[in-house]
Order: sequence, then structure tokens, then C-alpha cells
Amino acid sequence: MPESSFDLDAVREEIIATSLATEEEIEAFRVRFLGRKAGLIRQLFAGVSSVAPEQRGAYGQSVNQLKNLVEERLAEAQSRDGATAGMGSDLDLTLPGRKPPMGSVHPISQTLSAMKEVFRQFGFEIAEGPELEDDWHNFTALNFPPDHPARDMQDTLFVRLGDEEKDATLMRTHTSPGQIRVMEKQKPPIRVIVPGRVYRNESLSYKSFCLFHQVEGLYVDEGVTFAELKQLLHLFAKAMFGEDVRMRFRPSFFPFTEPSAEVDIWWANPDGSGKWLEILGCGMVDPNVLKAVDIDPERYTGYAFGMGVERIALLRHNIEDIRLLYENDIRFLEQF
Ligand code: DAH
Repeated sequence: MPESSFDLDAVREEIIATSLATEEEIEAFRVRFLGRKAGLIRQLFAGVSSVAPEQRGAYGQSVNQLKNLVEERLAEAQSRDGATAGMGSDLDLTLPGRKPPMGSVHPISQTLSAMKEVFRQFGFEIAEGPELEDDWHNFTALNFPPDHPARDMQDTLFVRLGDEEKDATLMRTHTSPGQIRVMEKQKPPIRVIVPGRVYRNESLSYKSFCLFHQVEGLYVDEGVTFAELKQLLHLFAKAMFGEDVRMRFRPSFFPFTEPSAEVDIWWANPDGSGKWLEILGCGMVDPNVLKAVDIDPERYTGYAFGMGVERIALLRHNIEDIRLLYENDIRFLEQF
């Protein structure tokens, strides 16, 4: 046995027998054996000088084993304690994890998808046109007279004013130029929708923004009637807003349709009051438009419509202000 003032067997006994059931016991154990200043293990190592030189190696090994034993017991006690009570720190390991935010589909995209799906079922194909347009497609081919107010800078965002009106480049003010682009390339029967973004130099309000989305529709064939247009729009409204939707057709005017109409949807408040909100313009394609794209108006007729996607989203989700759709406030968006 090494000659020391310590009884290593007794120390081993103590290490094994000490209860480590509570945080306080664990801490007291740690301080007693591994404390920086007066820890027992440290004292044992220091005691090596009082051991006979030929026994110092064996003594050192024994103390090392004791130190390992202390550390094993501590590690075991701490992992058990940590798993159940969180080591007395602020960490509560029993709390359920936080869900990572998943993001959501923007209400405009949701509405657009729903609209496309309805028209897909009615046999419409999807076409696209450029947002940067020329005067011919946005105005002239659509039968706008040269002095029409929509050509005014107050409504249209011009990108380049040509020497003459016909040379102007502008941000399209509606998706109707998509009609012209389709009919320039394709002859009847034609049944397409043209979804896209449009731009207007407009005063902002709860129902109008300077950019928004439209879905243009065009059906040209022999014998197409206004009654078919009405039927289609009625079915569309039911698909988007439910069977008991209230809608009304109002006579209107557009240069590119004759006759023309607008459709309003009733926006009901919970208290029974409410208001009409216009969601689209429509009509029978004006013969001048067909002529502009070399389609014989004596043989073919067609209907067309242009719908406001944001307005439809407002109604579907009961959103009070169109501008909310463009603020990208995550607290608003994550509701959808
Ligand atoms: N382009 C019109 C607008 O932006 C909407 C419109 C009305 C489109 C009648 C049409 C239509 O295709 O036939 O206000």
C-alpha cells in the first residue's frame, strides 16, 4: 500500500456510494472531488510526494482511476438529470420543437390558379403576351379611336413616345392585346385565356392599384352568341364564389366589343348590408377587331372578357383593401 495519509479504498467507496439523485447532490459531489481548490482528487495527486518513490507509479495510476470513476458518475448523473429537468438552466428539453415556417401561396396566385382551372374545364387554352406593348396591340387593333382618353398619359404608362402615336411603347394597360396576338397567329375556332399583369397610371384606392392582374378570355367561331357568354360567366361566378352568388350584368362600353357589358358581384357584410364590386368587362368582339387581324366578321363571331384577378381575390377572401395584396406583410400573407 502506498504510504499516504489517504485511504484510497475508502475514497473509492465514497465515490461509488454517494447519492447523485438531485441537482444539489451532483453539485456537492463535483465540488468535493473535482473542486479547483480543495477537490479530493487534486489533494490525492498532491499527496504523491509523501509516497515512497518506488510506489509513486502505482499510486498515480490508482488516483487516476479514481478520477475517471468520479467523472463517469458525474457524466451519467448529468445526462440523466439533463434529459428530465434541463440541468437547472433555462433550457427545457421537454418542450415540443418549433415548426419551421413553411411559407404559403400568395392569395393572388391562389386565385389565378383557381380561375385557370375553371377555364381549363371549359376547354380554354392558355396564351401569354408581353407586358411591354406597342400602340397597335394595346389600342389601334382593338378599335380605340386616335383621341380615346385611355391613350392619355393620365391612364397609360408610356415607356417611349414615338414621333407618331403608332410608334409608342407602353406598359400594357389591359390583357386585351393578348387577343390580337393570338388572332394574328391563329384562325378560328379559337378558345383561349390570356392571364397576366397590367399597369395603369391610376389613383390608388381600396379597389384600384397601379399594377394588377387580369385574365383575358376569347372565343371566336361560327355562330358564337352573347347568350353563351352570359352562361359561361354565370358558371364561372358560381365556381369562384359559390352557388348562391349574387351577380349582375350591366350594359357598358368598350371600343373592342359591341354590345358590351360589365359584371358586378355582391359583396355582403355580416350585418346584411353590402355593395356591388365590378370584376370584369365583356362583350361580343367588334367586327373592326376581327378585320384588323384578317378574320372575316361575316363568317365568324366571338365573345371576349377581361377579369380583374385582385378584385376576385378580395371577394373570395373578404380582403378589404387591394393594397394589402402588395405590401408583402407576412402577418397578412400567412393567413392564406
Ligand atoms: N380590357 C378591359 C379593361 O381592362 C376589360 C375588357 C372588357 C376586356 C371587355 C374584354 C372585353 O375582353 O371584351 O378594362
